[in-house]
Amino acid sequence: MSARDVFIDGAWESGEGVAFESVCPATGAVSWSGHGASPQQVVRAVTGARAAFDHWSVEPRQRRAEILVRYRDQLAARKSEIAETISRDMGKVLWDAAGEAGAMIGKIDLSSAAQSERAGTKETEAAFGRLQLDHRPHGVMAVFGPFNFPGHLPNGHIVPALLAGNTCVFKPSELAPAVANIMIECLVEAGLPPGCLNLVHGGRDTGAALLESDLDGVLFTGSAKTGIAFHRHFAGRPEIILALEMGGNNPLVAWPPCDAAAAADIIAQGAFLTTGQRCSCTRRLILPEGKWGDDVLSAVAARAEAIRIGPWSDETAFMGPLVSAQAAVAACTFQDMLMARGGRPVVALTQQEPGLGFVSPGIIDVTEAQDVPDEELFGPLIQVTRVATLEQAFARANATKYGLAGGVVCDDDEVWQQSLVRMRAGILNRNRPTAGASGALPFGGSGLSGNHRASAWYAADYCAWPQASQVAPKAARMQAVGFPE
Ligand code: NAD
Ligand code: SIN
Repeated sequence: MSARDVFIDGAWESGEGVAFESVCPATGAVSWSGHGASPQQVVRAVTGARAAFDHWSVEPRQRRAEILVRYRDQLAARKSEIAETISRDMGKVLWDAAGEAGAMIGKIDLSSAAQSERAGTKETEAAFGRLQLDHRPHGVMAVFGPFNFPGHLPNGHIVPALLAGNTCVFKPSELAPAVANIMIECLVEAGLPPGCLNLVHGGRDTGAALLESDLDGVLFTGSAKTGIAFHRHFAGRPEIILALEMGGNNPLVAWPPCDAAAAADIIAQGAFLTTGQRCSCTRRLILPEGKWGDDVLSAVAARAEAIRIGPWSDETAFMGPLVSAQAAVAACTFQDMLMARGGRPVVALTQQEPGLGFVSPGIIDVTEAQDVPDEELFGPLIQVTRVATLEQAFARANATKYGLAGGVVCDDDEVWQQSLVRMRAGILNRNRPTAGASGALPFGGSGLSGNHRASAWYAADYCAWPQASQVAPKAARMQAVGFPE
């Protein structure tokens, strides 16, 4: 039997590209090994998707939806296997991976409902006949996934794309490739026709070959650096639908009146969930000067010091490792840079074990620091700034080129109302962690966090184009100046 590196036109193949493996950052064990797709295989995958589009796009909506409901049931039947596969591959703790598997299952019903609301059909009677609105699929979509939600986030593009009648070529993250094979198996069991979803494993070379191929769209979730490169790649090609979901440097303003312990819980959850590897994690905490701010900071520090860190199999651990030992070293280097620029450690982030991904959570007070770069550090590190006024708090919160998530922790309704209009963030929560998005809402941000193609509830929007028709039942003569009687 061939290896399961590539899935084209309903058949598994060995990859003919570069060999690679994924290593569990909690144990150092190899969790996946195989070969990436060669450029020729990528072309065949796209050609297969294009051929499949001809029939999939004209299937009745109901039939496509039925197949996806069966996919949902397949995912549900393999939920614990999916969770463990994700944990072993990228290290997140099992309860967190089970949450991801649950979100993958929930995505099907949410996407169907969203499609009806955002990209369904509409008819209105007009004087001459009817105004009619429907939506059509784009064609062949390349789907790129990130490592932090290797199942949920590509699934969040693939499900609405297939529902709308597109076909896809999926390039999973090379840091967490394993769950993609289970997704394919579940869709095959569900009866998805060959060619509708093709899989090409591999790293950037495979991704680059996919970008060069004959696509109608790219649905991407990943870093701003990669998203910007993709945007440049397609410059001058408005016919390509490009949905970019990227990172953030997310602020949270905590302000009295509010219980300091409750504020600390919300802040620590939002910053340290999934070891800080959610795009919506709190990166920058803005606190008032004075005793209330001191109390909140001490309480967040107490939580950072108490957090239990462990391998995915440890049911009592809140945080697993970062995705790799290199990511752990990069987090320490980032913290060193902040301190070299005047940051003061409240709780220092430290790498726990050389060669693995474990780090402890950190908090750095950057109030006096100079030239702090506006960069996303994808790990459990909070940068704290103390300010004198709410005005200054909003100014600091908005001092970023990103605009993904933000938070306000405060019991005063007036502060919340001001925050809504003053803080620039696509996801802006009150007295809730910044991380832990709802699939029943749009997910996307302003600035460098995306290109205004929000995902989740709004994914239906970028998966189909509207077709508007004025329909008269019979051709009738029209009167116009100069026309013959
Ligand atoms: P990444 O940008 O490194 O990789 C994402 C995907 O793009 C991978 O499949 C990768 O192989 C591919 N890729 C990377 N460089 C490429 C290139 N030059 N050519 C072709 N393909 C390329 O992202 P990551 O490190 O896997 O994920 C973490 C990032 O994703 C963080 O910045 C995080 O904020 C962001 N993210 C955003 C959201 C969101 O919805 N806004 C959600 C999750 C993660
Ligand atoms: C993410 O997509 O990285 C985060 C989603 C969330 O807010 O949990």
